[in-house]
Amino acid sequence: MPDAHHSADIKERIVSAAPVEDDSSFELKLRPQRLAEFIGQNKIKENLAVAIEAAKSRGEALDHILLYGPPGLGKTTLAAIVANELGVYFQPTAAPLLQIKGDLTAILTNIRDKQVLFVDEIHRMQPALEEILYPALEDYKLDIIIGQGPAARTHTLDIKPFTFIGATTRAGLVSAPLRSRFGIVLRLEFYTHEDLRVIIDRSAEILGVEINDEGARELASRSRGTPRIANRLLRRVRDYAQVRGAGKIDLPTAQAALQMLEVDRHGFDEVDRKLLLTIIEKYQGGPVGVNTLAAALAEEPDAIEEIYEPFLIQIGFMNRTPRGRVATQLAYEHFGITPNRKQASLF
Ligand SMILES: Nc1ncnc2c1ncn2[C@@H]1O[C@H](COP(=O)(O)OP(=O)(O)OP(=O)(O)O)[C@@H](O)[C@H]1O
Ligand SMILES: [Mg+2]
Repeated sequence: MPDAHHSADIKERIVSAAPVEDDSSFELKLRPQRLAEFIGQNKIKENLAVAIEAAKSRGEALDHILLYGPPGLGKTTLAAIVANELGVYFQPTAAPLLQIKGDLTAILTNIRDKQVLFVDEIHRMQPALEEILYPALEDYKLDIIIGQGPAARTHTLDIKPFTFIGATTRAGLVSAPLRSRFGIVLRLEFYTHEDLRVIIDRSAEILGVEINDEGARELASRSRGTPRIANRLLRRVRDYAQVRGAGKIDLPTAQAALQMLEVDRHGFDEVDRKLLLTIIEKYQGGPVGVNTLAAALAEEPDAIEEIYEPFLIQIGFMNRTPRGRVATQLAYEHFGITPNRKQASLF
């Protein structure tokens, strides 16, 4: 979880891709355990399946893997699946938990043969710790300094071969030397409506929720391409169906519930609408720098870059240009606003 996930505003957003507090037990239950259960991301699955098979047949540790992409698309899930498929120990941690060198050396000296060491938020790794990591990743070696001052000596220890999996929502912030140590670099994409529908059906089955095809499609189309949001919407709409309906999620129930939850047909909520309208109305359609935009919205620039804008860009409502963010024609149409000539010239 990156920093921006912790902002109080985001926690209350039903369509936030960032995990909210009561997601965790649900996610555990709904998290696929095997590659075959993992829906969508076919290119990634194919890449991983081949690499896993090859490593297993050679009896070697799998190459190090960097997983990146917006929150809630399945990075942590995939890391755990890789360990499962390899039949090795899965050890999860996160860069902000590794504060001093000793934190990392303790983990590395205890590495089990061919295990997966998963480090979330890898872009927040401290430079001093990265230095320790490089020889471990390259040669499975650990340099330890014993003593201080002129008497200090470096000892090199052999550690067990292992697979390092790093995950980040901000690949651009991973240092070049660290990035170059990953043999496999995979970018997760937003999911199609069809993939999300399948995920919703699977989750509904696990949760014992009755949902028909139209209901599932409706939820899928409002989930911002994100499985975490799809699962959360399913949960909230199930509550609504139980209290206001006959317990079953069909199209009218889904629509009524989503309307109550103020999730519009693109899965936009108040913050998305405010973001786009701010660009359009306050900054004449842009370009506007992300820091300026963040100040106008009383949001963190990180939250805008990590959580809000990737989806808006993906569906073509917003563009990132060298001079800043601009609203697109689709955004104007969405709000029924006619762009003036200067604004239209940006499209
Ligand atoms: N391909 C998928 N098929 C089915 N369910 C999925 C898939 N991807 C993700 N999920 C569901 O979405 C939830 C969130 O996924 P996950 O925690 O792996 O995302 P993440 O990319 O690690 O997010 P973050 O950046 O916040 O750490 C999972 O618990 C799982 O239930
Ligand atoms: Mg994660």
